[in-house]
Amino acid sequence: MSEWVKACATDEIDEEDLIAWEHRDHKIAIYNTEKGFFATDLMCTHEAQSLEDGLVIDCVIECPLHGGRFDVCTGKALSAPVVEDLRTYPVEVRDGQVWVLV
Ligand code: FES
Repeated sequence: MSEWVKACATDEIDEEDLIAWEHRDHKIAIYNTEKGFFATDLMCTHEAQSLEDGLVIDCVIECPLHGGRFDVCTGKALSAPVVEDLRTYPVEVRDGQVWVLV
């Protein structure tokens, strides 16, 4: 069953950056982008690589290992070698806090 969980304050994530956050068995990346806050699975779908040190440009995360790219708003895989989309999680901002539905 899904529940809304408070993950962090909005000012804990720099613009065009992400943080790694863990809740129960979920390892999640939370992004601060020009379009707002988003959340996806933290691990790249190509190999078991954390996206924590990846580069965020606009709404795209580039995996630090092989440079595969994902749209962080939709989780869609955008460029080789990644072909499988990232799972996404609904996000809400309430009173300066980022909440994630996990
Ligand atoms: S592990 Fe992410 S692109 Fe290869």
